[in-house]
Amino acid sequence: MSIGAQPRFRLASLPTPLQELSKLRDALGGGQRCPRILIKRDDLTGLAFGGNKARKLEFLVGDALRQGATVLVTSGAVQSNHARMTAAAARAAGMKPALVLTSDAECPALQGNLLLDKLLDAEIHFIRANADPLLAIGDQEAARMAEVVSDLRQRGERPYLIPVGGSSPVGALGYVTGTLELVTQLFQMGVAPSHLYYANGSRGTQAGLVLGAKMYSAPYRIKGIAVSGGEPEKTHRAVRIANEAADMLGVTSRVSAEELLNDQNYIGPGYGVATPGCLEAIRLLACCEGIFLDPVYTGKAMAGMIDHIRHGAIDPSDTIVFLHTGGTPALFAYADEFSEQCMR
Ligand SMILES: Cc1ncc(COP(=O)(O)O)c(C=O)c1O
Repeated sequence: MSIGAQPRFRLASLPTPLQELSKLRDALGGGQRCPRILIKRDDLTGLAFGGNKARKLEFLVGDALRQGATVLVTSGAVQSNHARMTAAAARAAGMKPALVLTSDAECPALQGNLLLDKLLDAEIHFIRANADPLLAIGDQEAARMAEVVSDLRQRGERPYLIPVGGSSPVGALGYVTGTLELVTQLFQMGVAPSHLYYANGSRGTQAGLVLGAKMYSAPYRIKGIAVSGGEPEKTHRAVRIANEAADMLGVTSRVSAEELLNDQNYIGPGYGVATPGCLEAIRLLACCEGIFLDPVYTGKAMAGMIDHIRHGAIDPSDTIVFLHTGGTPALFAYADEFSEQCMR
C-alpha cells in the first residue's frame, strides 16, 4: 500500500520550517572553517510542545484507530518525550494514555515531561531504572508492559501497544514522509547538503530517514549521533524496521547495516547524563540563534556535529542539515546541570 494510503491521524503542523543558522556558523569560525548549516525545526511539529514523535504518532495513531483501540500504551524513561507525546496523541484522538516509566528515584520530581504526563492524566506505572546506565530502558519494562496490557483488557479496554520510542515499521513511516518534506524544501531552496545530523535513540527515526533517503534520492549522508548504547542490537533493529516499512509500502528499496551510521563518541557517562559538550551546544545555539535544544538528545547530537566541524571532518564549502527532533520540555528537569554554568 502506498504511503498516501496508510492509515494516518493528523497530529503535527507540517511542513516544519527549514532555517539557516548563520550566526552559529560565524561562532564556529565563519565560511572559512564552518559549512553552511540549516536546521530542520521538527521541535515545532506542535502536539504538546513538539518533536520527532509527532510524525511517527500520526501513523501509529492511524493504525490504533483502525484497530478500534481505546488506550495507547507505551514505555520510556521518566523524562521520555515519546511518552509525553504519546499521551497527548491519545487525548487528541479520543483515547486514553497508559505509560510505563523507568526511574531511579522513589518519588521522581514532577518536572518537565513527567509534569506534562500528569497534566494529560496518563495512567503511570513506575519501574526501577536499568542497571546499565548506557541504556534508556531494560528487559523488565517489557514484562511490566505485558501486565499493564492484560490489566487493561480485564477492565474492558482495547489497548494498542507502542514500542519504546514509537520505533516500529508503522512509526518509521513518519520519517519516510518527513524525508519527502525535507527533500522538497531543499529542492525549492536549490541546495544539496552533504550531511544530515540528528540524534539516535531507539532508532525508528533512523530507519525512516535512511529508507526515505533512498526512496526520494536525498543528496545527503545520514549521520546519527548516539545518545545511548545497545549496539549491535539496535542497528539490527533499525535494519529490520526499515525493511519491514519498505515491505509495507511495496517498494523495492532495501537498507543494510553498513548504511546506518551511528557515532557513539558523544554519549558520555550514560543515557540522559548531560555532557559538557552537550551543555555547551545548548548554550551556544540559544545565545547565537535563540533556539533551544534538549539535554538528552539534540544537545548531544549538536555537540557531535560541532565537534566534527571543529575537527575539519566537513568541507567548509558544504551545506549540512541538523534535524532538531525536539525534547525541550526535559530542559526544565535539568536546571541543576545548568545552574553552575549560568551563575558564571
Ligand atoms: C527529542 C528526541 N530526539 C531524538 C530521539 C531519538 O529518536 P529515535 O528513538 O527514533 O531514535 C528521541 C526519542 O525519544 C527524542 O525524544
